[in-house]
Amino acid sequence: MRLWQRRSRTSCRDIDPRVYPEGVTDEQRAALALAEGRQDRPAEIERVARQTSPEAAAWAFQQWALRERGRVKFSGAAEMLFDRDGLEMATHEALAAYHASRFPSGVPVLDMTAGIGADTLALAMRGTVLACEKDADRAALLEFNLGATVFVGDGRDRLGEFDYVWADPMRRGGGARLKPADYEPNPWELKEEFAAKKLVGVKLSPMAGDDLLLDLGVGIEFLSFRGECREAVAWCGQEAKAGVWAVQVETGERRARVDEPGKVEEAGGYVYEGDPAAIRAHALGGFGMARLGDSPGYLTGDGHVVSPWLTAYEVLWQGPLRLARVQDACREQDLFVEAVKKRGVDIDPPVLQRQIKAKGGTGCVVFVYGFQKRQRVLLTKKLGTP
Ligand SMILES: C[S@@+](CC[C@H](N)C(=O)[O-])C[C@H]1O[C@@H](n2cnc3c(N)ncnc32)[C@H](O)[C@@H]1O
Repeated sequence: MRLWQRRSRTSCRDIDPRVYPEGVTDEQRAALALAEGRQDRPAEIERVARQTSPEAAAWAFQQWALRERGRVKFSGAAEMLFDRDGLEMATHEALAAYHASRFPSGVPVLDMTAGIGADTLALAMRGTVLACEKDADRAALLEFNLGATVFVGDGRDRLGEFDYVWADPMRRGGGARLKPADYEPNPWELKEEFAAKKLVGVKLSPMAGDDLLLDLGVGIEFLSFRGECREAVAWCGQEAKAGVWAVQVETGERRARVDEPGKVEEAGGYVYEGDPAAIRAHALGGFGMARLGDSPGYLTGDGHVVSPWLTAYEVLWQGPLRLARVQDACREQDLFVEAVKKRGVDIDPPVLQRQIKAKGGTGCVVFVYGFQKRQRVLLTKKLGTP
């Protein structure tokens, strides 16, 4: 692993030395070692505090609690340092490895907004990287995690030195109403600079609208991880490929945006639930199937299709959303309801599950969807992967 070794701390004129922490102190390191494996109880904290200081002991126990939480994202969490927000914002290491894999091997990369270092660590596996972090306290944790010097200050000040850039700006708030000004730094203010680079990747919320994403990047990837659409990445610059894709991080499978399939009201013999990233990328056409209902996400056809992008169900019964008819169908087929799924209809799945009151011997999955103001139901059996 190679990291940027320049002592950039001294090169940053804007940082007031009084607010720059000394990094992790010897006392904190001692407290960390003494607190390892101990319960977070007053007597144990007191024992560590007697050998170090109350502040160092409190800090060390908090670090072990954060390390425990950090295991969800980092296989090496037990050797890292975190702050609560830094851990919350950090990229999962599998996603960070994917981001890094998109840059040519060996080229120097600027990580403009490094946080506690998930993306920097992955980028450092493939070549030189300069990590920038403007929050001085978090930068001290970042230095510990990287085992290398970082640039404490505004990553924009270092942009001019690099052809390859990664940016994961901080977000205030969330959801579909996120505006460019809610990102810090605001990548749209840098879009001309980004377009002139070789390659820039910007991690954004997948809830951001297509207009906004395509205003920044020429290539947009929606990343699927553990069955969720976790993020959108806008790729800018001369080496960025134009297009929109869904990418499965676990398998590396990619699926490009295609025209939406035609929609139908009634299901064929099978119904399919699309991967959320493929739904978001509008990449569910091309399977030779129709879209079921008005909202994208469900496909239907008469053949059993096996794809990493689709979860397959066999249709057992279908009809309009009328409780008595659904109950009759469950009774006739000896079914109970394992789960209710819905798209484009205003129903509460747990409430409907309770209302159906089916007590048969075989589990079924209920789909509810809308077609031109009509609400329809399917009773289905989930099919395993062969
Ligand atoms: C979403 S976090 C980055 C997480 C990081 N990619 C990781 O996986 O650990 C964004 C970070 O950017 C920092 N930041 C915001 N504006 C910045 C700027 N102009 N220059 C450098 N860092 C900045 C924030 O303090 C925050 O720690």
